[in-house]
Amino acid sequence: MGIAEEIAARAAQIDKMIEGYLPTEEGYARTVLSAMNYSVRAGGKRLRPMLMEASYELFGGQGERVYPFMAAIELIHTYSLVHDDLPSLDNDEYRRGKKTTHAVYGEAMGLLAGDALLNYAYEILAEAMVNDALANGACETNMARAFAALSSNAGYRGMVGGQVVDVESEETGADSMSREKLSYIYRNKTGALIQAALMIGAILADADEEAVGKMREIGDHLGMAFQIRDDILDVTSTLEVLGKPIGSDEKNHKATYVAVYGMEQAKREVERTSEEAVRILETCGGDCRFLRELFRYLIDREK
Ligand code: IPE
Ligand code: IPE
Ligand code: MG
Ligand code: MG
Ligand code: MG
Repeated sequence: MGIAEEIAARAAQIDKMIEGYLPTEEGYARTVLSAMNYSVRAGGKRLRPMLMEASYELFGGQGERVYPFMAAIELIHTYSLVHDDLPSLDNDEYRRGKKTTHAVYGEAMGLLAGDALLNYAYEILAEAMVNDALANGACETNMARAFAALSSNAGYRGMVGGQVVDVESEETGADSMSREKLSYIYRNKTGALIQAALMIGAILADADEEAVGKMREIGDHLGMAFQIRDDILDVTSTLEVLGKPIGSDEKNHKATYVAVYGMEQAKREVERTSEEAVRILETCGGDCRFLRELFRYLIDREK
């Protein structure tokens, strides 16, 4: 099996696992449940749960303890996309090859579906932790540590913080964007969840502090590469291939890496930061083949 097939097979497994967590569309609030399921079932690469599972395996993790965390991070990521597409943020009409959630259900339901997805992610984790405590007398420390890593990287110190500065930078423009600020935006809006995925896999596999630190560093580089590639595709791809509108960044006057440094340097930076991630990965010991091939596959990804 080639790496593309392996990625597709893993994504299909993840889809199946996440499906088991989706709420039944019933009761008075069913509109929002339907909007939640619509946005999750629209698809997506499932990259964050895939990274989490692969990191878990790399450090010898076995069993299904990682599943609720894989589901939770994908629900949080999906909420971030639903909100990112809202008229008051990027105002985009397509996502994952379908109409955006707010375009189908209206802006109020788009907002509420995002809120509900975020909250539901933590409900899943809370339930997993309660069950662990009931089964073992106390909740495992690693589960609590994983919970802490996810919640802090998703919030104002992570993804939300990056989105705040991203939105504010629409006014600043590309010319006055500093390297530090651009790096802050990318490391947080995109890097933080990718980093959390890799760290949580290691934490749940009971890897040592040094290994978790390496995953933190790898996530930082990979997140940077992933977002710069996203910016490149916003210029070079098509709606049909990408599943979301191209030209969204220009429309919103975003100071992206491509706008600030140009296409060629952007491509070089994707390669450089991805290879840096591979270099650190190879110092982790264990069988890192899948992650290494995945990192390299993402350099030239088309969607
Ligand atoms: C899109 O993330 C938003 C960014 C952080 C660039 P993905 O490219 O992982 O989106 P899906 O989950 O595959 O739709
Ligand atoms: C979004 O960055 C990152 C998020 C945290 C959602 P973009 O705004 O570039 O993501 P896309 O291109 O809409 O997926
Ligand atoms: Mg955005
Ligand atoms: Mg966007
Ligand atoms: Mg983008």
